[in-house]
Amino acid sequence: MEIIIQPTYQHLVSIAADIVKRALLKKPELVMGLATGSTPIGLYEALVRMHKEEGLDFSAVTTFNLDEYVGIPKTHPSSYHTFMETQFFRHVNIPVENRYLPQNTAADHGAFCERYEAAIARAGGIDIQILGIGREGHIGFNEPSSSLGSRTRIKTLTRSTLEANAPHFGGDIDAVPTLAITMGVGTIMEARQCLLLANGASKASAIASAVEGPITAEVPASVLQMHPCTVVLLDEAAASALKRAAYYRQVYANKLRLLGE
Ligand code: PGA
Repeated sequence: MEIIIQPTYQHLVSIAADIVKRALLKKPELVMGLATGSTPIGLYEALVRMHKEEGLDFSAVTTFNLDEYVGIPKTHPSSYHTFMETQFFRHVNIPVENRYLPQNTAADHGAFCERYEAAIARAGGIDIQILGIGREGHIGFNEPSSSLGSRTRIKTLTRSTLEANAPHFGGDIDAVPTLAITMGVGTIMEARQCLLLANGASKASAIASAVEGPITAEVPASVLQMHPCTVVLLDEAAASALKRAAYYRQVYANKLRLLGE
């Protein structure tokens, strides 16, 4: 794992955007795994800026979103379909037919999940997967106790996740859907590169467990320790419970020195 600690959220999203931009310039038909939630908003803003101001071209890109609630329509203001449309899709040039999100209205969820996995495989697999982390260490909506080999399926959300997401449902925890379709931990682990973003003190404990704790289904993000190419981008608050923060800073400073940056 490469752990990069930055002074502010703006710094970490600008590094994340730069990683995506480099990947896209190298491979215009990039397959991106996308995340929702408050964490990646600054990343999408930076990518939209690069598209509008520098002509960064998304016309050959394919995207797969991590997850979507079950039980609300796509058009709901807090659905992840709506999030992606307003935060990213309407501002860049990814063809509509190349944008995949879990469908919460499928008649047969099991069959849909199999088709979603097949579509990822058909696209050649995910090149770069954007991830946030839940306060209890989930990635996607893979809550604690999720199989580390799991595939796309329906999950029941924990109380902690419902509380964290209640502000998007008028502060009413009972209005938050209790089920979601999510890529599995095994699906995420097949991405060629993972970018895990976290900011704020509410993520410090989950980050410390994921990065420095044992690999356990109790903290699904901890499995990323087994991933060959994961970058963890943190602000100071999210990094505040890491025991080896000074070492990670030293590693990153050395990397920049070696790259002459
Ligand atoms: P957040 O959610 O970005 O809204 O904090 C992250 C997550 O639950 O994965």
